[in-house]
This record gives sequence, C-alpha cells and structure tokens, in this order.
Amino acid sequence: APTGTPTLAVIPGDGIGPEVTAEALKVLEVASPVKFESTRYDLGAERYLATGEVLPDSVLAEIREHDAILLGAVGGKPNDPDLPPGILERGLLLKLRFELDHYVNLRPSRLFPGTASPLAEPVLQKGEIDFVVVREGTEGPYTGNGGALRVGTPGEIATEVSVNTAYGVERVIRDAFARAEKRPRKKVTLVHKTNVLVNAGSLWWRLFEQVAAEHPDVTTDYIHIDAAMIFMVTDPARFDVVVTDNLFGDIITDLAAAITGGIGLAASGNVNPDRTAPSMFEPVHGSAPDIAGQQKADPTAAILSGALLLDHLGHAAAAAAIEAAVLADLTERAPGATRRTSEVGDAIAARL
Ligand code: NAI
Ligand code: MG
Repeated sequence: APTGTPTLAVIPGDGIGPEVTAEALKVLEVASPVKFESTRYDLGAERYLATGEVLPDSVLAEIREHDAILLGAVGGKPNDPDLPPGILERGLLLKLRFELDHYVNLRPSRLFPGTASPLAEPVLQKGEIDFVVVREGTEGPYTGNGGALRVGTPGEIATEVSVNTAYGVERVIRDAFARAEKRPRKKVTLVHKTNVLVNAGSLWWRLFEQVAAEHPDVTTDYIHIDAAMIFMVTDPARFDVVVTDNLFGDIITDLAAAITGGIGLAASGNVNPDRTAPSMFEPVHGSAPDIAGQQKADPTAAILSGALLLDHLGHAAAAAAIEAAVLADLTERAPGATRRTSEVGDAIAARL
C-alpha cells in the first residue's frame, strides 16, 4: 500500500449528494488504514445558480493535485428554467472525466445475497450475478463532436459524431482483460453493434481479437448491444467482464443496476488506470431532488464507491472489509423497514 497522507477532493454536490457523501466519509474514516486529508469543493447546481460558475479552471487545477475524488451527485430540480440542459453534465461531470482522462468507467454489478431483484426466480437460479462493466469514458458519442444548424426551423440539422480512436479503444480493452485476469471466471464479453456501426465496430472487433490473443487464459464472447439487453434480463449470470463503448455502457449499466437491487446500491468509478490524474468515485444515482434533505436516501451506493476508491489506492483489504460490512447489513435489512440515511451509515460503520 502507498505511504504518506493521501489527499481526497470531496464534491458532495446537490440534493441527496451531501447526505450520502457524509455516510461514505464516515465509513472511510473507520475502514481506511490511512487517514485522508480531505478538501471539500462546492460544485453543482447550487453553485451554478448562485454564482454562474460550473467548474472554474483554478478549481479543476486544485482538484487535479489530489490522490482521488469522491463525488455525491450533481443536478437540480427537473426543468428548472435557470439551469440550462446539459450544463452540469458537459461542464462538470464530462469535463472532469475528459480532463482527468477517466477512460475506464467502472461499474461492478453484483446481486448481493438476500437482496431483492426484479428478475424471476428461474433466471436467478441460472447462477450468481456478479459482473463488472468496463465502459469507455472519453470517446464515443459523448465527446461533443457535433453541432446544430438552422435550429428551431423545419430545416434543422443536428449531429453527434461517435469518436473512436485505436488508442482509446485499445487501452480500455486492455483494462478489461487485465481485470478479467484477476477474476475467477476470466471472461470478457465485448458488447457493440458491429453489424450496423461497421466503422467503429470493425475497429473495436479487431482490437478485441488482438488483445484477446495475448490472453489465452481469458474466455471471450461477443454480443450485439440489443441482444445483450435480452441476456441481461434472461441470463445475466453469463457475464463476467463486459467491455463496451461510452453510450452502450451508459445504457447497460442502468439496467445492470436495476437487476442487482436498484440504484441505491450501484457504485461506480471513473478511473484513470495510468494514474496520470486522480480517479473519481461516485454512486450511479443522481441528486434525487424528490427525496433530498429528508434523510431518506440509501447511502450504500456511495459507501461502496468509497470501497472502490480504497481499492484503487491500493487498499484492497480495507475495500473488501467495506464490501463485507455492506453485505452483512443488506442480509440483515428487515424487508420494508425504513432507516434514515445516517442510520444506514452508522450500522455499516459499526460493523467495521
Ligand atoms: P436520480 O438517480 O437522482 O433519481 C431517480 C429515482 O431514484 C428518484 O425517484 C430518486 O428518489 C431515487 N433514488 C436515487 N438515488 C437514491 C438513493 N440513494 N436512495 C433512494 N432512492 C434513490 O435520477 P434523476 O431523477 O433522473 O435525476 C435527478 C438529478 O440528478 C438530475 O438533475 C440529473 O441530471 C442528476 N443526475 C446526476 C448524476 C451524477 O451526478 N452523476 C447521475 C444521474 C442524474
Ligand atoms: Mg446514466
């Protein structure tokens, strides 16, 4: 494990973001073998509405100097006329991912024993659901490569070009294989749409084959995105590591969260595997304005994101301990019982 005092940039964000982040920090405090020096950054809808600032360059430069970033969630109330659509997604979340080169968007999807899934019993009996999606995070249709002409007229034209570079595709595929090597089943499934998106598809397929040849002990599989959505519901146990492009990964991971116990449990990492900049860990869910400020949010996803953070920083045992504490808490959660956000954090922290 690394030495020295690690630094943490904490972005609690909006809505339930600060509530769940407080619990993630509470659990990190007791679980981490090292004490973090945390700096809080107030970014998100609230800051934008108050000051017009999204992510000032000086703040980005400061955040870049940290060892890791913990994010709650950002986002205001739906259809707030003062909050232009996409301003936080593009100006804050995507900007951090692109600037800090978070080319692996990591989303572990595991159905913890005792957790309810909307899937039917015969599907659950096919095997354990325990896969990880390695979603490309810096390319695809999310780069802002596009534009609009004659907006608001019948002749309006809008384009979003999917960007795929050999460099970007190869490095994310390499990461997926490296992760598969460390997992018991050692299997990587490429999900794409090579039959229709023939240019990007051909690039992904060729690089997938090339990297696979270097990993003879890893089993490979290919599924088109549409068929993958069927298998995610009829036979999710077939997946181990799934590697895919930015947009497909966005869609797959929401379904993956839904089948593994819901958005309150889904953790994620925006990872820079080369460690040229800090990686960022956050729950998959948003700021949930409908329940914000009421201590109703489940902080488990944020707490598990803290475990991913520890694992990334080389503290695998502490990360596993958090997972075990969460597992124990989930197993003993009384069905239908409601606990306050802080009570869930307290209960998990107490097990550590
Ligand atoms: P959301 O994830 O905030 O909420 C969807 C539904 O799930 C709501 O009913 C909410 O109450 C519930 N929910 C979410 N997290 C929960 C938790 N931890 N415990 C219990 N229930 C929970 O998604 P929505 O409503 O689409 O977006 C709300 C805002 O969040 C928007 O401004 C959106 O842009 C933003 N957002 C931000 C993200 C981020 O910061 N990475 C990701 C997704 C959305
Ligand atoms: Mg999404």
